[in-house]
Amino acid sequence: MKQKLTIGVFGFGCVGGGLYDVLNKSELIDARIKRIVVKNKHKIRSIGAENFSYNPDEILNDPTINVVAELIDDSDAAYHIVKRALNAGKHVVSANKKLIAEHLDELIAVAKANNVSFLYEAAVGGSIPIIRNLEEYYNNDWLSAVNGIINGTTNYILTRTDEGETYEEALKSAQKLGFAEADPTLDVEGFDSTYKLVILIKHAFGLTIDPEQIATIGITNLNPGIFSYARERGFRVKLLARAERVADQVFAVVAPHFVENNNFTYGVLNEFNAVSVKALFSDQQLFQGKGAGSHPTASAVLSDISALQFDYQYEYRKSDNVSFSLLDGDYQIRVLVSSEDSEQILNVNFTDEEERYFGKSSFYAVGWVDEIEFKRLRYNENLSLVLFNDHPRINETPELEFKKDKIENYE
Ligand code: HSE
Repeated sequence: MKQKLTIGVFGFGCVGGGLYDVLNKSELIDARIKRIVVKNKHKIRSIGAENFSYNPDEILNDPTINVVAELIDDSDAAYHIVKRALNAGKHVVSANKKLIAEHLDELIAVAKANNVSFLYEAAVGGSIPIIRNLEEYYNNDWLSAVNGIINGTTNYILTRTDEGETYEEALKSAQKLGFAEADPTLDVEGFDSTYKLVILIKHAFGLTIDPEQIATIGITNLNPGIFSYARERGFRVKLLARAERVADQVFAVVAPHFVENNNFTYGVLNEFNAVSVKALFSDQQLFQGKGAGSHPTASAVLSDISALQFDYQYEYRKSDNVSFSLLDGDYQIRVLVSSEDSEQILNVNFTDEEERYFGKSSFYAVGWVDEIEFKRLRYNENLSLVLFNDHPRINETPELEFKKDKIENYE
């Protein structure tokens, strides 16, 4: 039976304002916003001040409100709001990827103890319905990879700079259009993608990991030589988030990549996101849509609210029997390392070097590096690093060889 929903909204920024609009325009859903709590009393907003309250208790202590939409940008404050709301027996819908990536197992337990739902489709890929699909549609398929572009701001910046805008101009318009986080370093340093990848890994592979376990490289350190290299070869540079199964381990990385024109992300431009899901039976499927922005993100919040009418909850069935762990240690990946200092390139410890270019003022080399060297390179600010889209090479052990063989026979 349909449940009547009375909503308390925290936050009236890009997503909160968007939710207000889409909920007012949607005629299909039986839900109304009773109260909106915001922090800043002086901010001029698109609707009158009489709609707002500044006291969280007016939502959290109101027994007639059965749904909390948590849409603020402060993840620490959001953590307390979400926990209190769940403990007060209210369903929670959130778009806060940092909060979710950092506290997911705890919040799942609190929601379960109170028999309420905690949904967050809007936290990953904006309008793309990826979480519910991983939960429901792919529930019985063996997933081998979930990867793609899951940050709109960086894709927008990479698109615009490719068209001739400066990095600063492109970032400024991404902020103006409401794509960027309040703190845009989360976007451009890759962390926003990493938080989202943590959530995808939970729903795809059942694995809970700490964001810090994912090797993360943003787009702030890309030099012009990298873009010339890409152009000469017909590649584009894209910030990819990748979770790929290698036997019974999951390789996870967020980094700029060279993508060829036959890659599904090549033509994904501006704030669009694209996620590929590879599974044993269904093979590869692609999801593409607006990954940031007010109404697209609010559409995912609306969909979660709508699902609450029917008491929908994520079941996390893949977490019941997790047979995976995160791949660390014994692997090699293919990278381009570039620097204005030739000495830096000479010092790179390739296990297999494929190409080297020493020009007048720019220097680069391409090849395979192991995990330890990859880590060293990531923390060296004098280097720019771009990955190729190859699978990681695994340093084989007889046991791994056996498991890999077992899985490849299905593929
Ligand atoms: N800052 C995020 C992005 C917003 O650019 O993708 C949507 O999560």
